[in-house]
Amino acid sequence: MTSIIFDKHGFDRIKAEISRAALVVTDSNIAGLYGDMCDGAFLIPCGEQGKSPETLLAILKEMHARGLRRNDCVVALGGGAVGDVTGLAAALYMRGINFSVVPTTLTAIVDSGLGGKTAVDFCGVKNLVGAFHEPVRMVVSLEFLKTMPDRDYIGGCGECIKTCLLTQNAYRLLRDRFDALIARETDGLSELIDACIAIKNTVATDDLKDRGVRRILNVGHTVGHALESVNGFKASHGEYVLMGLMTECAMFKEYIDRDFYAEIVEMCKRLVSPPRTSVKPVLSLASADKKNANGSITVMLPVSAGNILELRVDRDLFSARYERATAELRSGR
Ligand SMILES: NC(=O)c1ccc[n+]([C@@H]2O[C@H](COP(=O)([O-])OP(=O)(O)OC[C@H]3O[C@@H](n4cnc5c(N)ncnc54)[C@H](O)[C@@H]3O)[C@@H](O)[C@H]2O)c1
Repeated sequence: MTSIIFDKHGFDRIKAEISRAALVVTDSNIAGLYGDMCDGAFLIPCGEQGKSPETLLAILKEMHARGLRRNDCVVALGGGAVGDVTGLAAALYMRGINFSVVPTTLTAIVDSGLGGKTAVDFCGVKNLVGAFHEPVRMVVSLEFLKTMPDRDYIGGCGECIKTCLLTQNAYRLLRDRFDALIARETDGLSELIDACIAIKNTVATDDLKDRGVRRILNVGHTVGHALESVNGFKASHGEYVLMGLMTECAMFKEYIDRDFYAEIVEMCKRLVSPPRTSVKPVLSLASADKKNANGSITVMLPVSAGNILELRVDRDLFSARYERATAELRSGR
């Protein structure tokens, strides 16, 4: 399991982590904003552009050029993209060296920084090539959230909401702190973010290779992933998860506690609009989702706080419900 350290004192702990590293990988946005942490760091392209085989090879060459040994540690300083590609390089170099994560986005803090999924995009397919390789440490500071771009921050809120549906305690915290979350009042968010980190760390550690319980983290993802691909990744991943979550809940609301349903849809609608994508491409992509079995489409549905139902539905029902749900969500019914 990854050890988690909160840095509450002006980046002191993070600077110590960085000074011990044999190599720090970051992107140019982070280097521009947090230059004092990035002296001598290896810079990669920002965002999804950095999750390429070319970047992966460039990091591996840099590790070799700097003479990294098996007991050295690499630090990934950045969002999920920096973490994913750096983690994969660490998994491959000398058959695996240690890496630690200093997450600079909300998504990386509550989701991608933990769990050991590393990857690059390949042949136009997101995360096609990767490995399971857990970071030894994650050092967290909420200070980074203050400089995040709005869209990426909203996406991170989506990951937070998704995670908080998984336990009653986290859901209670989410309801209490939702306004602070969307207003980025970082002083009031420690407990909520702590709860998300604990859930992700526990679920991922129980099912490191994603073959069982980790499936509950796919709430909102069947429709969300399809929308993300159809729309060419224009919005952030977490924004598509929010659209997917409200749509999947509206599609199968007969299974969901009434008040819980209303709250989820309201929270999602405060952050994103209901999807306008037509059913045909969504159905085609949802049918190809890796969670599916026996020709049916799998949806992980939150039915009450802490209670996720795995639904398997046929294509005709999925289509009809998607069309009805998106129309209802758009008209506010
Ligand atoms: N491995 C996993 O389990 C997992 C889970 C969720 C998402 N992901 C992956 O994470 C990636 C998305 O990560 P993300 O949402 O963290 O975004 P990101 O890493 O793509 O970064 C988004 C943008 O924000 C900038 N940025 C990062 N931190 C900043 C800060 N503090 N201030 C200003 N700008 C900052 C980056 O330079 C970039 O331009 C996707 O590739 C997704 O597939 C992986």
